[in-house]
Amino acid sequence: MASSPIPATMKAWTYSRPGPHRKVLSLIEVPTPPLPTGSQILFKVAYAGIDPSNTDVMRIVPSLLVRKNAIPGTEFSGTIMARGPDAPDHFAVGCKVLCVTPNSAILRGRGPFCEYICLDSKTSAIALVPEGLTTEEASCIGQCGIMAMLIHKHGKLHQGNGYRILVNGASGGCGSIFVQVAVAMGAKEVVGVCSAPNAEFVLGLGASRTIDYRTNAPLHEYLAKEYGTRPFDFVLDTIGVQELYTKSPGFLKENGAFVNIGNYAHGRFWMLVYVMLNMLWPWWLGGTPRKFVIFTPQRDPEFIVKLMDLVREEKIKVHIEKVFAFEELCDALDLGDTKRVRGKLVLRVGGD
Ligand SMILES: NC(=O)c1ccc[n+]([C@@H]2O[C@H](COP(=O)([O-])OP(=O)(O)OC[C@H]3O[C@@H](n4cnc5c(N)ncnc54)[C@H](OP(=O)(O)O)[C@@H]3O)[C@@H](O)[C@H]2O)c1
Repeated sequence: MASSPIPATMKAWTYSRPGPHRKVLSLIEVPTPPLPTGSQILFKVAYAGIDPSNTDVMRIVPSLLVRKNAIPGTEFSGTIMARGPDAPDHFAVGCKVLCVTPNSAILRGRGPFCEYICLDSKTSAIALVPEGLTTEEASCIGQCGIMAMLIHKHGKLHQGNGYRILVNGASGGCGSIFVQVAVAMGAKEVVGVCSAPNAEFVLGLGASRTIDYRTNAPLHEYLAKEYGTRPFDFVLDTIGVQELYTKSPGFLKENGAFVNIGNYAHGRFWMLVYVMLNMLWPWWLGGTPRKFVIFTPQRDPEFIVKLMDLVREEKIKVHIEKVFAFEELCDALDLGDTKRVRGKLVLRVGGD
C-alpha cells in the first residue's frame, strides 16, 4: 500500500570512495527507492541525526566495500509513505516514526541523508514518535538511546538496582543520553565528567555531581583519591581514555565493569589496539583486573520500545545544539568532528 505522490528521483548526499567528507560527499539526484515489498517500509525523511561515526565510516571503510552513490547516516525521523504486506500493522501509511537503520544498511550505503529511504522493518529499530517528542528530537535519540540500553544489558545493570556510575564525556551526544538513562533505570548516583562550562547542563540531566576533567587532570588520579574508598559499579567512557581503564582498579569495584565507546583520545587505530589488548590480556599476565565490556550495537526493537516508554514518562529529553539545512551537511559534520558539541546535531531533510 502506498500514499501518493512519490517522485521518481530524490536528492541525496552520496559518496563513492572513502575519504574526508568535504572531499567525497556530493548532493545529487538519484532514483527514489522502489516501493516496499515483504516487511519493508518506505519512509519520507524529515530530520536525520548527525553523529561522529558518520565521518568515521566514510573515512575508514575500504574502497572495495564502498558502493557507488552510497548514502551516509544512521538515524532519522519521518513519515511512512508505503509499506509491504508483511510490515507490522501499527506502522501504517502516514504515521510519524523514528528509526535507527540496521548495521547492514550502513555497509550497503543506504543511510538517511536523502529524501526517501526503504528499510526492512524486521532489522531496523522503528518506533512511533511519542507525544512530547518533536520530529527533530525524534531523529537523534534512537541510536544513543539503544546503546544506553545495550550497555545496561551487557554490563548486567538491571533496572532499580541502585548502582553508582561514572560517565566520562557526559555532555556529548551519547553521554547526555547515558546519564539520563542511568538515572531512569535506577542508578543511585551518576557522576558526569565534563568541562566546567557544561557542568550545569550535565547536572540538569540528573547527574548527582560533575567533575571538570580539565582542572582535575590526570583524571584517574583524581578519581582514585575521591572514590578509592567508595568505588563505582560501572564506568562508561564515551571519550576513549585508555589510562582510565588501566588505572580503573583505583576507583572501580572489583566486580564492576568498564565500557568504552569512544575513540577521541588516541584515534581510531589505537582504540582498536587497546580494545584487543583490554579484551585479551588476562589479569594474571599483567592485564587490568577489571571487566572490559564491548558489544555490537544491534538494533533490538525491544530497546527502542523501552526507550520510548522513558520518553513518555518524561525521564529522557534530547538536547539539540544546532539544526542544519539539508544543503549544510558538510558544515554539520565539521562541527561534529570538533568533538565540542553539547548534546546532538540534526540535519533538516524534508522537515515536518
Ligand atoms: N553519537 C552516536 O550515536 C555514536 C554512535 C556510535 C559510536 N559513537 C562514538 O562514541 C563517541 C562519543 O560520541 P558522542 O556523539 O557522544 O560525541 P560528542 O557528542 O562529539 O562529544 C563531544 C562532547 O564531549 C566533551 N568532551 C570532549 N573531550 C572530552 C574529554 N577529554 N573528557 C570529557 N568530555 C570531553 C565535549 O565537551 P567539552 O569540550 O566542553 O568538554 C562535548 O560536549 C565517539 O567516539 C563516537 O564515534 C557515537
